[in-house]
Amino acid sequence: MTKRIIAGSIAEEEAPYELSLRPRVLAEYIGQQSVKDNLDVAIQASLKRGEPLDHILLYGPPGLGKTTLASVIANEMSAHFRSTAGPLIQLKGDLTAILTNLEFGDVLFIDEIHRLQPNIEEILYPAMEDFKLDIGATTRAGLITAPLRSRFGMVHRLDFYSVPELEYIIRRSAEILTAPITGEGCHEIAKRCRGTPRVANRLLKRIRDFADVKGTGEITAPVARDALKLLDIDEQGFDDMDRKLLRAVIERFGGGPVGLNTIAAVLSEEIDAVEDIYEPYLLQIGFLQRTPRGRVATKFAYEHLGIPYRPPQAGLF
Ligand code: ADE
Repeated sequence: MTKRIIAGSIAEEEAPYELSLRPRVLAEYIGQQSVKDNLDVAIQASLKRGEPLDHILLYGPPGLGKTTLASVIANEMSAHFRSTAGPLIQLKGDLTAILTNLEFGDVLFIDEIHRLQPNIEEILYPAMEDFKLDIGATTRAGLITAPLRSRFGMVHRLDFYSVPELEYIIRRSAEILTAPITGEGCHEIAKRCRGTPRVANRLLKRIRDFADVKGTGEITAPVARDALKLLDIDEQGFDDMDRKLLRAVIERFGGGPVGLNTIAAVLSEEIDAVEDIYEPYLLQIGFLQRTPRGRVATKFAYEHLGIPYRPPQAGLF
């Protein structure tokens, strides 16, 4: 898969930097209000009773803060936070080793939990009855097996963030990085980070470099716009890949409906990547629609690409 500056997934070299920007307690965690409210009640109740929290499953597109929220929960519970990921657990022994090292009340975070092999997943079941808190995270709630899903007492979906929420996050990150930024500068980045804090923080870092080299160091709206232009990110926060996807649906398939497999083949990408990474934001902002017959480009997509709109033929979906 091509490396994108607007990818929701985390790049290895970003981990330490991202860690420093991460909120540590619920009060610092911006957005996802209803998830936070529910977790707050559950955490307070379990602390009051001196009982461990119920297991939690967090799902949603990459970059929205599943890992961050899990570490906040561990902090709030004053528990040890241990973290692993489905693809890292190849052998039964890998998971057994992790589980035997857990203590009462510890939090085990399993990212991409849908990628645990079924025979390994079974080892998790008895451990989940053992008063250790498991937090599973996945971009694909639909791929979690029913027995695993039924063991999570709380299931929460993380949504894309609003522009004002992202402005807060960007302002907070800029303060941590001691990067001067104006309100308009924050707004410009917030509008173009695909509703995703990880993308916002990554863009902030690139724009800060640009401001230091080409300007006075202050991140203003014009500086942000120039930097984003250099990064080939348009007003919607789309990169070349998004535009290619929309253009393919419109120009090669008459605006759709076109199947996911076909889109993936045209873009030389994996089906999972299109479904988990490229598509969710385009669906969320209504540039793409999912129908039983496949994906359809909407009027917004045509307008954005400057192509005259032709509605899909009636009766096709
Ligand atoms: N950094 C990344 N995600 C965040 C969030 N939800 N709140 C505060 N800071 C963040």
